[in-house]
Amino acid sequence: MKYGYFDDKNKEYVIERPDTPYPWINYLGSEEFFGLISNTAGGYSFYKDASKRRLTRYRYNNVPTDAGGRYYYIYENGSYFSPGWAPQKSELDSYECRHGMGYTVIKSEKNDLKIEMKFFVPQGDNTELHQIKIKNLSQKKRKLKLFSFLEFCLYDAEDDMTNFQRNFNTGEVEVDGSTIYHKTEYRERRNHYTFFTVNQKISGFDTDRESFLGLYNSFAEPQVLEAGKSNDSIAHGWSPIASHFLEVELEAGEEKELIFQLGYIENKDEEKWESPGVINKDKAEKLMEKYNSTAKVEKAFDQLNQHWEKLLSSFSLEHSDPKLERMVNTWNQYQNMVTYNLARSASYFESGISRGIGFRDSNQDLLGSAHLIPERVKQRIKDLAVTQFEDGSAFHQYQPLTKKGNDKIGSGFNDDPLWLIFAVAAYIKETGDYSILEAEVPFNSDKKATIFDHLEASFMHVVNNLGPHDLPLIGHADWNDCLNLSAFSEKPGESFQTVSNKDDSSAESVMIAGMFLTAGPDFVHLAEKVGENGLAKKARTELEKMKKAVNKAGRDEEWFLRAYDYYGDKVGAKGNQYAEIFIEPQGFCIMGGLGLEDGFAEKTLNSVNQRLNSEHGLMILDPTIKEYQINLGEVSSYPPGYKENGAIFCHNNPWVMIAETIIGNGDRAFEYYSKIAPAYREKISDLHRTEPYVYSQMIAGQDAASFGEAKNSWLTGTAAWNFVAITQWILGIRPEFEGLKIDPCIPEDWNGFKVQRKFRGSKFEIEVKNPEHVSKGVKEIFVEGEKIEGQILKDFDKGPVKVEVIMG
Ligand code: GLC
Ligand code: GLC
Repeated sequence: MKYGYFDDKNKEYVIERPDTPYPWINYLGSEEFFGLISNTAGGYSFYKDASKRRLTRYRYNNVPTDAGGRYYYIYENGSYFSPGWAPQKSELDSYECRHGMGYTVIKSEKNDLKIEMKFFVPQGDNTELHQIKIKNLSQKKRKLKLFSFLEFCLYDAEDDMTNFQRNFNTGEVEVDGSTIYHKTEYRERRNHYTFFTVNQKISGFDTDRESFLGLYNSFAEPQVLEAGKSNDSIAHGWSPIASHFLEVELEAGEEKELIFQLGYIENKDEEKWESPGVINKDKAEKLMEKYNSTAKVEKAFDQLNQHWEKLLSSFSLEHSDPKLERMVNTWNQYQNMVTYNLARSASYFESGISRGIGFRDSNQDLLGSAHLIPERVKQRIKDLAVTQFEDGSAFHQYQPLTKKGNDKIGSGFNDDPLWLIFAVAAYIKETGDYSILEAEVPFNSDKKATIFDHLEASFMHVVNNLGPHDLPLIGHADWNDCLNLSAFSEKPGESFQTVSNKDDSSAESVMIAGMFLTAGPDFVHLAEKVGENGLAKKARTELEKMKKAVNKAGRDEEWFLRAYDYYGDKVGAKGNQYAEIFIEPQGFCIMGGLGLEDGFAEKTLNSVNQRLNSEHGLMILDPTIKEYQINLGEVSSYPPGYKENGAIFCHNNPWVMIAETIIGNGDRAFEYYSKIAPAYREKISDLHRTEPYVYSQMIAGQDAASFGEAKNSWLTGTAAWNFVAITQWILGIRPEFEGLKIDPCIPEDWNGFKVQRKFRGSKFEIEVKNPEHVSKGVKEIFVEGEKIEGQILKDFDKGPVKVEVIMG
């Protein structure tokens, strides 16, 4: 069952009823000011860091779910309703929510009133705009009252929901005209404040939550609405909020428009005050002035749309399947931008306080955004590299506000170093900009280094940390955070990721070996590029050794092993009680070129198909682990079918898709793609539950009671990897160091497709034809009518350059 539809032309998902199977959200902002907004205007806003600079409050795991957000109430003759449905669950005559690129519009009708609320963050400013239109559909004059509402967070989100003995005393506000200023802790060390304003004269306000709601009322029944007038309350401690009270008169058929603005301001220390105790409002007033009319707001909205239009024109596909088009052209790229911006910090499953920017996660996210925002990708690579140690290991996470590594989690995840090679290689393949290798970025110790030095440290970290089978040591964990082989956890609540109570020089990861072999050749190329020929040679030798080590000790009979545990026993081997096969090494070892000569790759992928495939995608392991296994760690802590214990972990499905394209099996690659791509699952939204326009991290596996139900939408490496799989390997438009390679591997029944791709300053218009209905193989390529040798587009011309590709 569906709850809406894709409006492809406007790049929107249109939700037709408010009670979606889970709150379906969108993101506002793409630079420094961000908001999460659900289809009923729930959610919150923050500046840069959802943990340390949270501007509005949100309670996770609340009852009912998704309570709290940007609320408006309309009052007339003693009754009132919420035009966005929440919080009142008002029965609306019509409802529609459009989530678009960086904006959300909620439209509804009730009592002969038509309300439209548009929310977005304009480019270049730290502010969120709410453009509210109210139209009188009736034949009579109406006198309405409009109340706004949002609740401030006292900036530090974790402290805000724990440290009440202090926080109930610190809250402070100022009200000036139509603007409510939130200035908690501004009297001492903070030099920032938040404001909420409206571009019209107000008839009253509230800034104290209890005065607005009443102590025992929910958001659905504020006492102010019961009374029909505000209390002009000033918050002293407790919970500061912002609510405006406006009287709106509408003639028959008339429409009026109000612009609300939530803004964030920083002042220099010496410019904090206007007079003792009164905050300096200069910057706030300038910001308000910038967006205080419809014309100004509409202009800002146009600019936002142009921004996205331009961004998404970097890659666009024409195909007979609209589902594929909307994934590739719009939603997958959009999700890639959101994961670039937010990493794993704030979603409806990530509370914004527990994780910063992950070394592994962010490097992978870059694979999906290098073609969109190369300059920012370059900067992120540098930010990540600073958190690397001289031996190549890296802080697993850093906080975006401080850019400092997170001591709590530390380092020791032995896949981390390699992801930096993946990211830098992807950046250079996209841009051709080798100069990044010379960029000076110190190690965490402050030791001077270039990016190339960092890559060398990454590569050597694997070489210097080999185990008994000459395979890479796993450390705390590799990509699979839950496969904890070097520590045995017995205490409830202990972090599986950080506990270390066993010698970590025995457990080994075949997956890291596969990654090493995948990234290694790129490293060799880069070493040669910077004239490090000796190092390149040495690296080649190490790659050969690794290949031998995997072929000797990393294979089971029908697939690649996953690991060796602390005792040297095989993990992911036939005959084991649980988890005989894991997905991760199957994809990565084949990407690393293993098993291609002797048919083992085919055998492996057939095993994956037999053991891991399901109607909802490829499961991460089989059989699921039925009871806690201390030697495997967190993976066995989940009930069978959930998360790393046998769910469809959407992040790693594309590794198998890519492996299938390497052996030329386009039908299977695309079957796996379409099983998990959200647009293809839209029709089962009631089962899938999370948004049908973005990937979720996981879908419950076969052994779960809720097989097919997704969780953890939005912030997942799934987005970047699926984009890589579909665009670079299935459609086969793949940036390489030498140029843009064209190497599709598609289902045999496809006739072809067209792609427009911006690449290193030129624009290619590529038409792929498949007259013989093959899966893979390029017979001829014509550039501007002239046949070229090979499959790489190299001679760049600004374009548009017409390219015709004949498969066969
Ligand atoms: C989560 C983490 C990611 C990890 C994956 C598998 O998605 O963000 O870092 O690789 O789980 O455990
Ligand atoms: C849990 C999750 C895993 C995630 C990790 C992050 O282990 O199962 O997916 O990567 O937490 O710390």
